Amino acid sequence: MRICSFFFAIFLILVISPRKSFESYPTANISTTWTTDYSDVRPMLVSENQVAQFTCGFFCEGKCTSYIFAIFITGTLGLSDTWKPEVVWSANRDYPVREKAILNFTAAGELVLRDEDGSIVWTTNTAGKSVAGMNLTDTGNLVLFNHQNSVVWQSFDHPTDCWLPGQKLFTGQKLIASVSSTNLSEGMFSLQVTDKGLVAYVESNPPQAYYSRFGYLYGSSNETKDGKYIRFLNGSLSFFIYASEPSDPDAVIPNPTSVALKLLQSHVNLDKNMVLSHSRTSRTSPLLPAFRG
Ligand SMILES: *[C@@H]1O[C@H](CO)[C@@H](O)[C@H](O)[C@H]1NC(C)=O
Ligand SMILES: *[C@@H]1O[C@H](CO)[C@@H](O)[C@H](O)[C@H]1NC(C)=O
Ligand SMILES: *[C@@H]1O[C@H](CO)[C@@H](O)[C@H](O)[C@H]1NC(C)=O
Ligand SMILES: *[C@@H]1O[C@H](CO)[C@@H](O)[C@H](O)[C@H]1NC(C)=O
Ligand SMILES: *[C@@H]1O[C@H](CO)[C@@H](O)[C@H](O)[C@H]1NC(C)=O
Ligand SMILES: *[C@@H]1O[C@H](CO)[C@@H](O)[C@H](O)[C@H]1NC(C)=O
Repeated sequence: MRICSFFFAIFLILVISPRKSFESYPTANISTTWTTDYSDVRPMLVSENQVAQFTCGFFCEGKCTSYIFAIFITGTLGLSDTWKPEVVWSANRDYPVREKAILNFTAAGELVLRDEDGSIVWTTNTAGKSVAGMNLTDTGNLVLFNHQNSVVWQSFDHPTDCWLPGQKLFTGQKLIASVSSTNLSEGMFSLQVTDKGLVAYVESNPPQAYYSRFGYLYGSSNETKDGKYIRFLNGSLSFFIYASEPSDPDAVIPNPTSVALKLLQSHVNLDKNMVLSHSRTSRTSPLLPAFRG
């Protein structure tokens, strides 16, 4: 089995010592604005649990000529000085913004990202839905909540390339790997939860499935697809197809040391290697076998 050596290089520099980057600051009120400000990382909200710190804010890619509004890991048990924040969600990965872009949490309760020229790049479309505030949870979920503290919008419903603790991926949803570690746009590989199981695709036209797992779980099912999901729980992927929580899942793919699972794509050898990885310790562990095309 071949694993992407480039990512090994990154993850091997980690050492085990608790460390975090920012003071915790998990909540914001409506009528708040933030702008990109020439820094690599512009934190807006910060939240942490016992093993990881999550930050949401502006993040600059590659040579820092453009920014995404993102959630990134800014602290784990295994951080060294050379560790860089690891992006685990982003709003505008395919439409990065420039210097002087503005994120406005409007009085109407909507998060709106405008580029420097004023054009709207991304929005939560939650105006008029009684949003009262915004919260980054301690597992990296950005939540817009109302006066009853109910979730109106959450980033967990809009996955990019990562599974975060507790996050569910419902049938029909997918993770799409980034082009590379410096270009976070959608790349060529996806991992989808379908009614044929967990299936990896090359995003060609038409998409080509090249790997699948646990299809048998879905095969005999006549039930509606609603409510079926794979959840990242306690470091493992838990399948809830027939089972419903709090019962035990139908199947589990264990990966016990993970803080987050990220779909990776090699940009070094471009040979379609793919692993799911994590960001807590010095190891990158292949959850799915690496694939060679
Ligand atoms: C949000 O609003 C509440 C109530 O008006 C206030 O107590 C709190 O300090 C505000 N929080 C922030 C982060 O501005
Ligand atoms: C943010 O949105 C509000 C409307 O809720 C608007 O009045 C304000 O001018 C906007 N702020 C910026 C900096 O664009
Ligand atoms: C906001 O996040 C904090 C920290 O994770 C959490 O304790 C709190 O319950 C959350 N509040 C809401 C309204 O979601
Ligand atoms: C990132 O990759 C996308 C898709 O391949 C490409 O369109 C874009 O130009 C790249 N961005 C940079 C900064 O290289
Ligand atoms: C699926 O549907 C068929 C026809 O409606 C039925 O005969 C069969 O028992 C169903 N199977 C399950 C597992 O519900
Ligand atoms: C996760 O692990 C904790 C501690 O080991 C355990 O108490 C909890 O029941 C587990 N949760 C699930 C859903 O397996």
